[in-house]
Amino acid sequence: MKNKIALTGIKPTGTPHIGNYFGAIKPAIELTKEFDARYFIADYHALNSIKDPQQINEMTYEVAATWLACGLDPNKALVYRQSQVPQTFDLSTILLAFTSKGLMNRAHAYKAMVQNNSELKRDLDDGVNMGLFTYPVLMAADILLFDSDVVPVGKDQAQHLEMTIDIAQSVNHIYKSNVLTIPKPLIRESTQTVIGLDGRKMSKSYNNTIPLFLPTKKLRRLIMKVVTNSQTIEEVKDPDKCNVFALYKLFATEVQQNELREMYLKGGMGWGHAKQELFEVMEEMVSPMRENYNELMDNKDFIDKLLDEGSEKAREIASEKIKFVKNILGFK
Ligand code: TRP
Repeated sequence: MKNKIALTGIKPTGTPHIGNYFGAIKPAIELTKEFDARYFIADYHALNSIKDPQQINEMTYEVAATWLACGLDPNKALVYRQSQVPQTFDLSTILLAFTSKGLMNRAHAYKAMVQNNSELKRDLDDGVNMGLFTYPVLMAADILLFDSDVVPVGKDQAQHLEMTIDIAQSVNHIYKSNVLTIPKPLIRESTQTVIGLDGRKMSKSYNNTIPLFLPTKKLRRLIMKVVTNSQTIEEVKDPDKCNVFALYKLFATEVQQNELREMYLKGGMGWGHAKQELFEVMEEMVSPMRENYNELMDNKDFIDKLLDEGSEKAREIASEKIKFVKNILGFK
């Protein structure tokens, strides 16, 4: 029997951080054991906001190298560039004809921009390009093109997936057949949310991230900036109300966690010490991956080859699907 298909897109718009690692990368790699995985770089999605060719190019390598360094096995997952699979844009054009404008009006990202413009008394559509407005349709095309069964995403993408399902159902309904496979969202819950330097959710938009592959010294310097309270060394501290400890738990073993917990509860431990402990467990986990990452970043030809090969295979699968869909819709 064929494995079920898991697909997700990674927008190359920011340097991957440990929130991405625990929230998205690690669980997605885990899924490749069970599913036929298709993990692609959503570079045309990034184009809506990034118009700097150098940046798009560099971020693509960063994202690809990160996932590979974290253990994504290209033999177990199809890894490709969205921009190299033009069938996506065939399907996207087709899906636009089945998508009401009203549905797009309700998309969170678009609504937030309109709201912001309204507050600033600007033209409501200021800064809104059609790529942003139709973003959920392109995403639906990414997903439906590959008959995806499950789509692992963060909560922020839940609405987009509902829209994908809406659009697919409307196609299936009109042609009275299962033209498109209805995907199942695999939404990551907030219990797995990684906090940032300031205790809020780690996010590029809060500027509180810890990049995954910072060089050792910079990593240590950054860890020392994790926000703590102003308790003195002598005072007893509460590990469960501490940003340092929350991060420590992600990297440390049970035994290590219990040891550090005791030091908190005993008193006599300063924040510098706790942060040093955090730095050490983090460095231990990250350093072999970082080495791998740096090697890959010095070998961009290798990454290109991998993405080119993946894209070629993706095109083969995609062109079958497009042929099938066009045929049903009455096209040659
Ligand atoms: N929109 C997603 C994000 O911003 C990225 C993405 C594009 C995606 N196409 C996708 C995710 C298809 C899942 C499936 O993170």
